[in-house]
Amino acid sequence: MAEEENVLAELDGIRRAGLDALSSVQDEAGLQAWRTTHLGRSSPVMLVFTRLGQISKEMRPAVGQKANQVKQALEAALEERGEFVRTASLRQKLDTERLDITLPGRRNPLGRIHPASQALAEIVHIFEEMGFQEYRSPEVETEEFNFELLNIPEHHPARDMWDTFHTTVPGTVLRTHTSPGQIHAMREMCPRPIRVILPGMVYRYEQTNASHEAQFNQVELLAVGKNITMGDMKGTIEGFARRMFGEHVRVRMRPSYFPFTEPSGDIVMECFVCGSKGCPVCKYSGWLEIAGCGMVHPIVLQNGGYDPTIYSGFAAGLGPERIALLKYQVNDIRYFFQNDIRFLEQF
Ligand code: DAH
Repeated sequence: MAEEENVLAELDGIRRAGLDALSSVQDEAGLQAWRTTHLGRSSPVMLVFTRLGQISKEMRPAVGQKANQVKQALEAALEERGEFVRTASLRQKLDTERLDITLPGRRNPLGRIHPASQALAEIVHIFEEMGFQEYRSPEVETEEFNFELLNIPEHHPARDMWDTFHTTVPGTVLRTHTSPGQIHAMREMCPRPIRVILPGMVYRYEQTNASHEAQFNQVELLAVGKNITMGDMKGTIEGFARRMFGEHVRVRMRPSYFPFTEPSGDIVMECFVCGSKGCPVCKYSGWLEIAGCGMVHPIVLQNGGYDPTIYSGFAAGLGPERIALLKYQVNDIRYFFQNDIRFLEQF
């Protein structure tokens, strides 16, 4: 009998201890911990239930009932304390975290056209005003179009001028220049006169540096007709440079070599980046090559379907990124394709 009375007194103690501990719980984590200690599987009140079997038959209902009451009282107290803790934390949040609805909203950033595309569009626009028509040709070419038809035979040392990306399809390459477009244009338009520009991306398997990238744009220029002379070529290119850079720009043409033109030249402009003093962009020469040019080689005219004894033509290949470097005074061509927003946002 004494043992049973002890259990009843013990249960009162368990209730008191539980309620005492609960009154100092302040947050969600404390509630969880309290639940484990005071209502969990091995909490004092739950252990009383496991001991019921050792209690005499007569007293067992009384002890069981009391244990249930204690358990329910603790559960109800937990519920109440939980409510209190959650309300308090909400009130504290409302007091400390203020929402200032007068702050201006954040704008969605607006995209813009990539500077290389802007330069390309501007160049194309100038030539269109001069009567040239835009023409597109493929970026993946056969070696025949990229080289042979442009008078660069297989195994000829002139092929070394272009470090080429070959594709997995034999005889197929990423075009190293826009010049194969000349053949496509001529074959489509022969025997009509031609004034076209061919803009687009070209690819070189190259070591990159301040003025060389492995991919860049080119704009190919092609005029074919009767009585087209080098004077026409010089006038066209100088006219372009003046529209692009201003009336007083200094441009010069110097002799060069390309297999698909004869004679060939380079068009060089004074280096705006350093004011012709010499810098990494112009390789310390004060001049920057912006285009190759020349009179279309008779073999190339023939490959395009034009009789070179009747027709002549000039061609040029311009580098829009080079031109953008000059125009915006950027000192490294690699910025264009690094995709750094801080650079791109300036245009
Ligand atoms: N295709 C040449 C290159 O990528 C550039 C070029 C030079 C194009 C002279 C021409 C030209 O049309 O006449 O290096």
